[in-house]
Amino acid sequence: MARSFYIHTFGCQMNESDSQRMGEALARAGWAATDAPDGADLVLVNTCSIREKAEDKLFSALGRYRLLKSRRGTKIGVAGCVAQQEKSRLLQRAPFVDFVLGPDHLEKVPDLVERGGIETDFVDTHEYVFPQADPETSRGRATAFVTAMKGCDNVCSFCVVPYTRGREASRPYAEIVREINDLVGVGVREVTLIGQNVNSYAGGCTFAELIRRVAAVPGLLRIRFTTSHPMDLSPELVRCFYEVPSLMPHFHLPVQHGADTVLERMRRKYTIAEYERRIAELPAGIALTSDIICGFPGETDEEHAKNVEFLRRTPYDNLFSFVYSPRPHTGAILKIEEWGEVPRDVALKRLEEVQALQMARTLRRRRERIGFDVEVLVEDAGFGRSRENWTVHFEGDANPGDLVTVRVQSASLVALRGVQTAVVDRAAPQTRRRLAVVNAAECCG
Ligand code: SAH
Ligand code: SF4
Ligand code: F3S
Repeated sequence: MARSFYIHTFGCQMNESDSQRMGEALARAGWAATDAPDGADLVLVNTCSIREKAEDKLFSALGRYRLLKSRRGTKIGVAGCVAQQEKSRLLQRAPFVDFVLGPDHLEKVPDLVERGGIETDFVDTHEYVFPQADPETSRGRATAFVTAMKGCDNVCSFCVVPYTRGREASRPYAEIVREINDLVGVGVREVTLIGQNVNSYAGGCTFAELIRRVAAVPGLLRIRFTTSHPMDLSPELVRCFYEVPSLMPHFHLPVQHGADTVLERMRRKYTIAEYERRIAELPAGIALTSDIICGFPGETDEEHAKNVEFLRRTPYDNLFSFVYSPRPHTGAILKIEEWGEVPRDVALKRLEEVQALQMARTLRRRRERIGFDVEVLVEDAGFGRSRENWTVHFEGDANPGDLVTVRVQSASLVALRGVQTAVVDRAAPQTRRRLAVVNAAECCG
């Protein structure tokens, strides 16, 4: 009987996609996926280190898997950003872990299970080969992530990503287009192009050109991308939102803070005026979302007030806000004494203020749709997403991959609810044959 594996994924879309690649590599080596850790011969934890809390989650998960190991000899591997950050130190802290691998070595998983050890050296950018997705693992799914680039060449002073993901490397556009063609062939109708800094893409064409090439793939209904840095937002990319009908009207463009002095300490390389000039060019009605950090070192009451003022006048569709968490190997941690740490209770209060402001607005925007039809791409029975990327639950008989309209009856912060009114475009039936089970990543809030 085939040996079985379970992958536990934390963090962002990049990790979710990496987990799928690792699952595919294991499947090629004869392993079978299971959807629970208890009966698995291998448990692989794909980790996130964006905030301290994310890192803590690894160690509490490892505590549970250690018991499995002592009961039934389960092998334990750690991948992802904590693996890259901690390298051999991880084995000192958790000696029962069998192997550790960084994000550059996804396809070495089957080999590492056999021999154990550590693979965390970055591969030279010029030699790096992006793992190709196996389209079969997406058969029958409506949506897929497609890697466009990896790494980050920025130096935001709060962020550990450049340390854990290394230098930027872009995937050649022909490879991306081929992969999307294959995905559409197994029923995928929406792709999200992913990368830590996706709009600085340079794989033989600009990011805007990449979007146009992807839009030309026959049968693809929707395109999204994430995440973008405001400084890499080109006028050509803005034009895509006007001219490419399959590019969905949702744009995640993290601002991080509303005060120039904080942006400077964060080394974000733009001012609020520049950010506002850029977003003013976007089409009206686009769902603009952002990230905000509260309690960044040295943040004064005045700076926080500026942040709130900026957020009040910027009509974000949604906001992901976090309390600053000091990360190893970052610029801010070296300056924290000089700038001064913001007491945790103050940071939390500021976060609550920001969240309350946005929650009221998000709810209002969702409720405005009650009584109207929204276009939904069905991902599972009774569940899908609107063009703005809002979650929609509905009553109706549509199948995954169908594009339908839903009459909205109620709205909450997390989802719209309604009834299916029409099928706009029916998907070709697919026999679902998932080779690797990969669960959605757990958010690291
Ligand atoms: N590449 C993206 C961000 C990736 S990390 C960008 O440059 O915008 C996702 C979000 O986590 C960031 O936008 C930031 O808001 C938050 N984040 C990153 N480091 C953090 C830290 N040390 N403490 C709190 N939040 C952090
Ligand atoms: Fe993703 Fe960032 Fe977490 Fe790495 S640290 S897995 S890039 S969220
Ligand atoms: Fe992080 Fe900034 Fe890059 S937030 S991922 S260092 S652009």
